Formats: sequence, structure tokens, C-alpha cells
Amino acid sequence: MSLIIYNTGMLVQTREESVAFTAGKDMAVLPVIENGWLLIEDGIIAGFGPPETIPAFSSVIPGLDAGGGYVFPAFCDPHTHLVYAGSREKEYTDKIRGLSYEEIAKRGGGILNSAKLLHETSEDELFRQSMERVREVISFGTGAVEIKSGYGLTTEDELKMLRVIRRIREESPVTVRSTFLGAHAVPAGYRDDRRGYVNLIVEEMIPAVAAARLADYIDVFCDRGFFTPEETARILEAGARHGMRPKIHANELDFSGGIQTGVEHGALSVDHLEFTGDDEIAALLGSGTMPTLLPGAAFFLGMTNPPARKMIDAGLPLAMASDYNPGSSPSGNMKLVVSLGCIRLRLLPEEAINAVTVNAAYAMGLSETHGSITVGKKANLFITKKIPSYEFLPYAYGSNLVETVILNGEVVSNHTSHIANRNSQIS
Ligand code: NIG
Ligand code: FE
Repeated sequence: MSLIIYNTGMLVQTREESVAFTAGKDMAVLPVIENGWLLIEDGIIAGFGPPETIPAFSSVIPGLDAGGGYVFPAFCDPHTHLVYAGSREKEYTDKIRGLSYEEIAKRGGGILNSAKLLHETSEDELFRQSMERVREVISFGTGAVEIKSGYGLTTEDELKMLRVIRRIREESPVTVRSTFLGAHAVPAGYRDDRRGYVNLIVEEMIPAVAAARLADYIDVFCDRGFFTPEETARILEAGARHGMRPKIHANELDFSGGIQTGVEHGALSVDHLEFTGDDEIAALLGSGTMPTLLPGAAFFLGMTNPPARKMIDAGLPLAMASDYNPGSSPSGNMKLVVSLGCIRLRLLPEEAINAVTVNAAYAMGLSETHGSITVGKKANLFITKKIPSYEFLPYAYGSNLVETVILNGEVVSNHTSHIANRNSQIS
């Protein structure tokens, strides 16, 4: 099955050769082709180029008129908690009244509140609620998403969450990576026995998750008031023995030592990083661990921003993710994340787009297949409305400019007038 996309305003993030990630000054480089065409064959990008090189056979295969819209590789979202039950807007109101994220957590709200709701919700219902979010993020242009457990906090409920993630992977066209996050919070029953809970994770949960092959990665919330670097190290080492590479929460609430612990354990990414100083930057440089920022969470909680400019200027790569979750970021809109990256982290539009495409693909182990318009990569793309420039994407921060979403070469979401088959009109 072939499809040619033509009459584009621009193809954005075109790479002849796949790159693992962009770092430092290279993050400001965003390759594009004006008015380009793009050929899809059997779900894979088979060719692309400037308008004068459009293949002659393009007039006899199905075509999609982009109407001057821009074609981007679909967003990769390398950090979400989008499998959850219910919502937590009451806590949101408490925050407006002045309670902090940590104060809410101490009162049994926060993650423990979501764990209670999840426990009371059936697996089918959890899948149904989560799929609504998956469909929404696809319509916003996301083509790959990492999803964490971490609202179970018992072996049984963590497995339930991970099975829901597996079902999303099987039943949705979006590419899914799954992460075991048993160490998201210490459950109420273990408040006075933290060691007992870490033992449970190491001795029971990790082996059970690994035996059922339910997780690609392992995560720990390594931060003040949650898990210490020592506890984190123990959990990551147990995960490594079962083939799970770390992708951890670090330095959201303090200089917690999480970044160094992640790097020492070969983490694929360390995420949040609001508290990042010179030592953390030095640890990350040359490490292969992708610093991943979640500007939606800092925005929603009204917290400090990470020093993104300083990190890029030091030569680091950066990825960004939505952190879609009921407590600190109830949004999976990656276009908004691009805007927040520009507005709040002072990223250039080129840097922000690299952060949610090639670098985000790296942060979820998908560099080979996702994150750029490159021959041989999966045809996961979105087409915008007709726009004047790619800078317009973050600039128009409140408009949904994503009109058509193509995953595995098939149109899966279409709010538009893009004409899906020009040749049916010709014949
Ligand atoms: O990434 N920081 C830890 N975990 C989530 C929040 C989870 C929640 O509040 O439910 C986060 O922000
Ligand atoms: Fe998170």
C-alpha cells in the first residue's frame, strides 16, 4: 500500500541519516524541505524530497493533498503516567488555596489517592479511561508514548496497570514503551517500614513484572520525601538483573542526588531536573543519559524551571515530555509542551522541536524507527493546518494546528479538509 503526501508547506525534521540525538549547539539545527513530497510504502517512509523531484508514478498512486500544511514526524512523548483512574481536580483546588504538592502528598492525597482510586477500578474500566487519553494524544499528534505504572503500589495492582499498558500497545496504533514504577511512593501501610516496601519491590514485584515481560524500563521517584539515592540504587540494580534499563524521576523537588544515581546506573533518561547545578551537568555530559524536561509539570504546579539554557550551552542534549498524570500535569498535549519549552525554558523553536522528536525518541529507545522524516523509519507523521512557518507551531500556543495524524502509514485522525485520495477524482 503506497501513499504520496504532496502540496506541503514544508517537511520538518528531515534527516538523510538517522541521528541518535542532537546536543548543544546542534539542537538549534532543524533540517527542512520547502514544499516537499513524502512517499509512504507499507507503513514506512519510502522517500521524500523537494517538489521538483516528485516521482512520476506519484500521479497513479493514492495521494494526500496537504493543502499547504506542514508535515512533522509525530511527537514522541517519553514520560507519561496516562494509565490512571478518575481525576484529582479537588487537589488542584487545594493547590490554588495554597497547599504544596508535598503537603497534599503527606495528607494521603496525591499519588496515594490515585492508588486508592485505581485499586477500586476494574481492569476493563481502567483500560477504557486510559484509551480515551490515548485517542486524545494521538489526535494532538503523538505517535509514540512511554507509559508508567506506579499507581498500583501492590504487586497485584502494579501488574494490573502494566497489563493495561500492554493492551494499549496491542489495540492502539500508537507505539508504546512501558515502565515499571513500583517506587513511585511508599504506600500508607509501609509508612513506618520503608525498607519493607523496598524489599517488596526488589524481591516480589520486579521478578513478577519480569516473568510476565510487562516492562521495558524501570523507574524510581528519587527525590526528597520519596526514595533516597541508596534505595534507588538498590531498586535499579534489581531491575538491571532482570533486563530493565532505568529511566528515573530525579531532582524535581531538590538536589536529591537522583541525577548522579541515574547516570551511575546507565539510565536511558533522567527526568524533571528542576534542581540541576554544575555537578549534575558534569555528571550528565558524555553519559548517554538523556536529560528529559517536563515543563508542563513545573507550569501546572507553579514550580521552578530547570536551567535548560545553561544545560544546552554546556553541550547537553535535552528531550521534553508531557508527564501526563492526574496530579502534576493533567495534559498530554505535546504541542503545548513545545510552547512551554519556548516560553518558560527559553528554548528556540528548533531546539524545542528537536527535544520532542529525535531526542524524545532516544529517551524511549526508539531512535532507529521514530523521531524524524528519514527513509526506512515508521510513517508516524502529522500534518498541520496551513501555517506560515514552523515557529508558528509554538507561537500559536492555544490553537490546535494538528489536522491529520498518520500512524504506521494510515490516517488515524483527521479534522480536516486534507483530500485523502486525489486519484479517485482523476479516474
Ligand atoms: O512525574 N513526580 C512524580 N510523579 C508524577 C506525579 C504523579 C502524581 O502526582 O500523581 C510526576 O510529576
Ligand atoms: Fe512523572
